[in-house]
Amino acid sequence: MNTAKPVNASRLEQPYSERQLGLTELTPSYRVDLRPHKDKAYERFIRVNTVKDWSQLTWERVGKPYEVRTMSEARKQWEQEHEKAMDAKTSWTYFNKAFHEWFDKDIPKEISGDQSAFLKSLATFKPSEIRAALGDVARIHLWNYVHRIQDGVWDPRGKRSLFEGLNVTRPRILFLGAAEGYEAMQLAALYPGAEVVLVDYDAYCKTVRHGEFPDSYPFLGSSTSTGGAKVYYKPDFNIEYVVDDVRNLSFGKTFDIVLSVGLLEHFPDTYKPEVVDWHRRFLKDGGYAIFTTPRNQWKSRLFYVIMADIMNHTYRELMTVEQMGLYIYENGFDIIRHGYIKAHNAVIAQVR
Ligand SMILES: C[S@@+](CC[C@H](N)C(=O)[O-])C[C@H]1O[C@@H](n2cnc3c(N)ncnc32)[C@H](O)[C@@H]1O
Repeated sequence: MNTAKPVNASRLEQPYSERQLGLTELTPSYRVDLRPHKDKAYERFIRVNTVKDWSQLTWERVGKPYEVRTMSEARKQWEQEHEKAMDAKTSWTYFNKAFHEWFDKDIPKEISGDQSAFLKSLATFKPSEIRAALGDVARIHLWNYVHRIQDGVWDPRGKRSLFEGLNVTRPRILFLGAAEGYEAMQLAALYPGAEVVLVDYDAYCKTVRHGEFPDSYPFLGSSTSTGGAKVYYKPDFNIEYVVDDVRNLSFGKTFDIVLSVGLLEHFPDTYKPEVVDWHRRFLKDGGYAIFTTPRNQWKSRLFYVIMADIMNHTYRELMTVEQMGLYIYENGFDIIRHGYIKAHNAVIAQVR
């Protein structure tokens, strides 16, 4: 049983340490989770091992991914004004701004604000105002459940159990389409002494999404000196943030780990071989490519409908782990592990 005392994160810069191992608590914006993933009850990377031999898998058998077609109002308006389809980079700048605001929210405060706004809207008898206020209530409750209560977006225990056991020491880690860089920081906590390069072509990701990621958020990892658990914070990591298109990068094959989280599913099939190749291009021999993409499950489909104005500015698919693995396998990788965490499929692969 965890007997650690909860800590009020907002009052201290770096409020957690290994002494709180086993603790989980809610701040107004997110969950702190220092529960060890190795405890079986907390294991959250489910290795499905559904595919024994990837060479035998076919597209006829696994089918193609589900395409999310509900687009945000902001994208629709932009396209009306400009009389053309929104290009990918612009769509990412809209997405990153809209999404980031939700990580900053004082959720309990917003819930009570949105609920009283809804009650006031009822008194107007205007269907459009009532519908808008109801939408706000639904979205904040959904975000509270998905991100703050369930921790399905960051999912630290799932990520730790996915990332553990790689044969690397002081790895060089490249994160393609890094946004705030969460997963690379989690990897750097697990593999101390890591050198991290985050790449995103939206400058806002460097300055705001990563720049304003809370210094007080604890990443549970391991200590090189004791071999036991250790809590790290963003300022502890060795991170370089490159604002550029992945297609322009000139690194050699110098990385032990190349990862992307929610990137592959934003490209239609014609572009997928190129996106898979981005992961191979910078990998040392024997290095690991890590891919995750959102799962095709009814909860996720509903999430992208209710949160369309925040999430859907870009082309997006939801897929199964077999579909994701097949894209990766048929583009030259062997699949080392495959399975799922809370909201994402996950594959660890090595160049064949
Ligand atoms: C869906 S996000 C990744 C999910 C992320 N974990 C999040 O919370 O938003 C994909 C990121 O990839 C970036 N991106 C897409 N195409 C890119 C490219 N060609 N070069 C660099 N960055 C790219 C986008 O700007 C975006 O920030």
